[in-house]
Amino acid sequence: MRQAGRYLPEYRQVRAQAGGFLDLCFTPELATEVTLQPLRRFGMDAAILFSDILVVPFGLGMGVAFEEGEGPKLDRLDAPDALPRLDLERFKATLEPVYEAVARIADRLPAETALIGFAGAPWTVATYMIEGGSSRDFARTKSWAYGDPEGFGRLIGLLIDATVEHLSAQIRAGAEVVQLFDSWAGVLAETQFARWSIAPIRAIAEALRRQHPAIPIIAFPRGAGANYLAFAEQAGVDGLGLDTAVPLDWAARALQPTVVLQGNLDPQLAVIGGAPMLIEAERILQGWAKGPLIFNLGHGVVPETPPESIGALSQYLRDFRRG
Ligand code: CP3
Repeated sequence: MRQAGRYLPEYRQVRAQAGGFLDLCFTPELATEVTLQPLRRFGMDAAILFSDILVVPFGLGMGVAFEEGEGPKLDRLDAPDALPRLDLERFKATLEPVYEAVARIADRLPAETALIGFAGAPWTVATYMIEGGSSRDFARTKSWAYGDPEGFGRLIGLLIDATVEHLSAQIRAGAEVVQLFDSWAGVLAETQFARWSIAPIRAIAEALRRQHPAIPIIAFPRGAGANYLAFAEQAGVDGLGLDTAVPLDWAARALQPTVVLQGNLDPQLAVIGGAPMLIEAERILQGWAKGPLIFNLGHGVVPETPPESIGALSQYLRDFRRG
């Protein structure tokens, strides 16, 4: 999940210096610096590249802007016959600074610290392209997906190809694990979830495995509820990010035999900090102790989080492992 960002004063300083958020993503020295900031303070076991899922639509030639305090704004796609084309040369040239940042980060990290690359999953990225930004009801995207599945499928296909390219390039530059964020998978009905969340992620995982068989793949179909089970069985990924609503015992019984579990701690508990946060962290560790797990939050660190809470949590986890 996001571990860099506005909760850190040193991030806010670099962000102000960069100008826009996209300038930060596309300036390799600055992206490297903000990627390393949380590790410097807290010594996590892995770094996640500082970038954004919306650099893929940007690489496809769409307008993408981040207004302070407003969330992202994109050129809106109006119809399946108005899709951008994947011009590979232009895509790679536009996104080259991202891969340069990956290479710089890989150079700077100690060997025992993993570097995670990432991309948005096709469904989630499609929602931003069709809605023109964040959405409450995903009405435009769902009306495409239900009303014209072939046309919508062409957009998903385009995003599958672009995402494979984008993740492969990160792996070639030094990413050792990749994660797919399907942040809006939870709004899909069962059949739609199978078609627009599981199937595209499976296609990406299969293509990546052919090129990079040793690279683990994590996916985060946030809010999938009971659909997490079909996802674990069918998406062909190694690790599964669980949001905060997934019951621990169920995940241990139903999912952990198939995938490595990650996540689940409510990010709002890191805002509160102290005993309530540590009690819940311990519940997760105990609940999943019999199988493979990556300790993580159930979603990204929120801006209101006191950095000291993340420090206390990291310390607690290190002591737990030793004990
Ligand atoms: O720790 C890290 O370095 C991770 C970097 C990272 C960012 N975005 C940086 C970012 C990652 C992994 C993402 C993924 C991302 N981006 C997702 C999927 C994960 C999730 O949170 O569900 C999504 C949906 C986006 C799209 C996006 N980017 C939105 C909706 C917003 C605005 C909301 C917000 O929190 O401001 C962003 C901006 C963004 N991306 C910020 C960061 C640190 C905040 C920008 C800032 O004001 O500096």
